[in-house]
Amino acid sequence: LYLGIDVGTSGTKTLLVSSSGVVIAEANATYPMEQPRAGWTQQDPEDWWKATVKTVRQVMRKAKCKPADVKAIGLSGQMHGSVFLDAKGQVIRPAILWNDQRTANECDEITAAAGGRSKLIKMVANPALTGFQAPKILWLRNNEPRNFKRLSKVLLPKDDIRRRLTGNYITEVSDASGTLLLDVVKRRWSTRLLSKLELDKSLLPDVVESHEVTGTLTPEAAKTLGLTTDCKVVGGAGDCAAGAVGNGVVKKGVLSTSIGTSGVMFVHSDEPQYDTAGRLHTFCHAVDGAWHMMGVNLTSGGSLQWWVESVLQGLAGISGSNLYEAVTKEAQACPAGSQGLLFLPYLNGERTPHADPDARGAFVGLNLMHQRGAMTRSVMEGITFALRDSLEIITDLGVPVREIRASGGGSKNPFWRQMQADVFGKKITTLAVEQGPAYGVALLAMVGDGAYKNIQAACKATIEVADKTAPQRSDAKAYNQLFPVYQQLYGQLKSSM
Ligand code: XUL
Repeated sequence: LYLGIDVGTSGTKTLLVSSSGVVIAEANATYPMEQPRAGWTQQDPEDWWKATVKTVRQVMRKAKCKPADVKAIGLSGQMHGSVFLDAKGQVIRPAILWNDQRTANECDEITAAAGGRSKLIKMVANPALTGFQAPKILWLRNNEPRNFKRLSKVLLPKDDIRRRLTGNYITEVSDASGTLLLDVVKRRWSTRLLSKLELDKSLLPDVVESHEVTGTLTPEAAKTLGLTTDCKVVGGAGDCAAGAVGNGVVKKGVLSTSIGTSGVMFVHSDEPQYDTAGRLHTFCHAVDGAWHMMGVNLTSGGSLQWWVESVLQGLAGISGSNLYEAVTKEAQACPAGSQGLLFLPYLNGERTPHADPDARGAFVGLNLMHQRGAMTRSVMEGITFALRDSLEIITDLGVPVREIRASGGGSKNPFWRQMQADVFGKKITTLAVEQGPAYGVALLAMVGDGAYKNIQAACKATIEVADKTAPQRSDAKAYNQLFPVYQQLYGQLKSSM
């Protein structure tokens, strides 16, 4: 048996999976996200550890299996976050997360130190974006010099869990790509950029490929989790690459979308191809010797959650456990295009395609006819249009798109699946059982343990497509007419944001 652990933003999900890919048990534990100022997001790494321990113990209890049955663990997690550690392995301050926007000055500092944006993209395949890890390290140096003085290592969220499991400071290529310090083409730290930023390489962990074994459980971790010291821990992957693996996106031609808190449009690439304008991220894939490109929307499902839970909840007919069902029903009653109402989902800044920490959300085009359903529908349409922005950049780069595989909360809802097919103008597929990043890293654990020869073989043996949704011509036409209007809005409103 294999464990897949995904240290997400709202909680940790752990799966216990058999080598044939059957999920034997599942557990989730949530934790809060601190927002000490607008645009700042932080978490206590101790919460991630507690959630890991709790969910592992829960799945073991549910499955009633023996500790020695678990051969290996795969780790996934929210990307880009920074866990700052001192020489004794003590956490120095709360971890700064992927959706934190405090580092605009440091992004400028990095770009200047690299000799400009295009030189930076040549070194690390990506431009400096506020969520990435390198600007967070510089922010610490610039704003909390005492903490920086104590700094001995910086880890990504899932790699801090690895440290507590194995005692080893190791990351893997897919998550390391999101630090902005990895030479993504060569799959190793960019000593060039590190020296330009005057950062010591010793601050960073070692880097391996995603399926490689990074250690075994320490006696203490084995005891705490109820497992054995023979249990291996493989590299794993950042949640985007892990989710793609869990969706079988490990070869050319298949794209995946994921609507969770963030929205991701992800494509596999056999070469390190990149968008010279830097709108897409080019990262190493969790597939050995492969890369991926992706566009990321910071507040995707997070926008619907804000709309439903902070604005609508408690209003007539919108309460209780069927919250999302009730609002979807109202949205569905309104025609495609939300009667001309448009929504920009940039509630906490945006990455793709605008890379603007100051971008903000908006409803545009309200009139007296619009009711709650139109507003909900326009939120869902705005989130989907934001993903189409990434799809257009991907197709403009000449990447072939045969199929789009939908995942995350947005794929569970048939109405939203249809909307995705119509907005993208492509067939949408979903899996028989979609378990997301935790499943992807359980598959990587199987490869690391030798149950499969590579990740493609593991995906082939375990992943099954169950549902196909084709675009409906009339709605697709309505969206095609509206999309250019949506695309213009950001530029028109930017100065007022
Ligand atoms: C990816 C990104 C987010 C987080 C969410 O670049 O920032 O998708 O990984 O967990």
